[in-house]
Amino acid sequence: MTISETQLGRIDVMKPWLGEAEAQALAEVVASGWVAQGPKVREFEDAFAAGQHAGFAIATSSCTSALHLALVVAGVGAGDDVVVPSFSFIATANAAAYVGARPIFADVDLHTGCVTAATIKAALTPATKAVIAVDQGGVPVDLEPIRALCDPLGIIVVEDAACAIGSLYRGQPVGSTAELSAWSFHPRKILTTGEGGMLTTARQDFGDRARRLREHAMSVSAADRHASLLAAPEEYLEIGFNYRMTDLQAAVGIVQLSRLEAVVRRRRELAATYAQAFAGVEGLRLVSDPEYGMSNFQSCWLEVGPAFPVGREVLMAHLASDGISARRGIMAAHRQPAYAGADTGAAELGVTEWLSDHTLILPLYHELALHDQVRVIDSVLRAAGQP
Ligand SMILES: Cc1ncc(COP(=O)(O)O)c(C=O)c1O
Repeated sequence: MTISETQLGRIDVMKPWLGEAEAQALAEVVASGWVAQGPKVREFEDAFAAGQHAGFAIATSSCTSALHLALVVAGVGAGDDVVVPSFSFIATANAAAYVGARPIFADVDLHTGCVTAATIKAALTPATKAVIAVDQGGVPVDLEPIRALCDPLGIIVVEDAACAIGSLYRGQPVGSTAELSAWSFHPRKILTTGEGGMLTTARQDFGDRARRLREHAMSVSAADRHASLLAAPEEYLEIGFNYRMTDLQAAVGIVQLSRLEAVVRRRRELAATYAQAFAGVEGLRLVSDPEYGMSNFQSCWLEVGPAFPVGREVLMAHLASDGISARRGIMAAHRQPAYAGADTGAAELGVTEWLSDHTLILPLYHELALHDQVRVIDSVLRAAGQP
């Protein structure tokens, strides 16, 4: 392949950064003969808890299952309302529906794409038992004012940190100041285990129950039973789930965690290059750090406003014709058929709809080459009529 063919290849919006070390870690687990949830999951949980300043970490099959467990251990159920942003992947709202509660949609801040104390306040109902605050696209949500609003009302705040590993809130890892936080290791996220998630909490009672619930609420884990020659009979203490992560996934996760600092540094460099390139272009606005925190730029979104010569759809088609894959910005769950006819509260969702309609996600991944990023920048600038 010539250099020019390489340079003109397709540019994806996202690619996981996986290498030899992950392959080696997987091979070791295979050779050990224990591939289900076991010692590697425990090692991954311990490393994750230490890195995220969490009291307890419970690995799960996905962030969706972690969110579900979070609401179960928080005691949310039928008759309760859970305030969630509509501006989020639909799993955030679905977690409320899984426990029989009603998702109530709150709007988000124009600059961060995250809920705020004010947007949550506008969505509260007398039946609100929990709030799920999302660090949208990796931008940390401003949790302190949200806790100041919710704590006195007895409303539990769950942080959906699916996108936010490596982001900082007031100098601390995101999620570390929430009672419960949920994380994703889907390949669209900056660290991946193929599929997988994590629940973290500062509360031992929440952690102990979530650990049991992810494994059918068994009184003794399968790994512990396996370790003993004469296993004690187990009991099923309540109705639980199979939300286990495997040791294969955890082994990959341990290696991925060791890459975190490098991944975040690189993503921030790439985002800074985009920011510089588009700074003077009328009608474009790139997502940026809020004054209270630092983003990992999991989703590097660009707002295409009315002052830009073409709209978002035309810009995306233009990028596609140059071999560049962008994605429409974050979805608005209240517009999806799953929720469109449902009673999901009465809050104004104007910013959600604006951002959902006017943003796109630019290619950004660890191994994005400079010449490919330059191609993305040139393509956007040509769409703006700039040479
Ligand atoms: C904000 C948010 N919450 C939850 C999820 C669900 O994550 P998972 O695919 O690990 O279940 C996602 C995935 O995109 C997400 O972006």
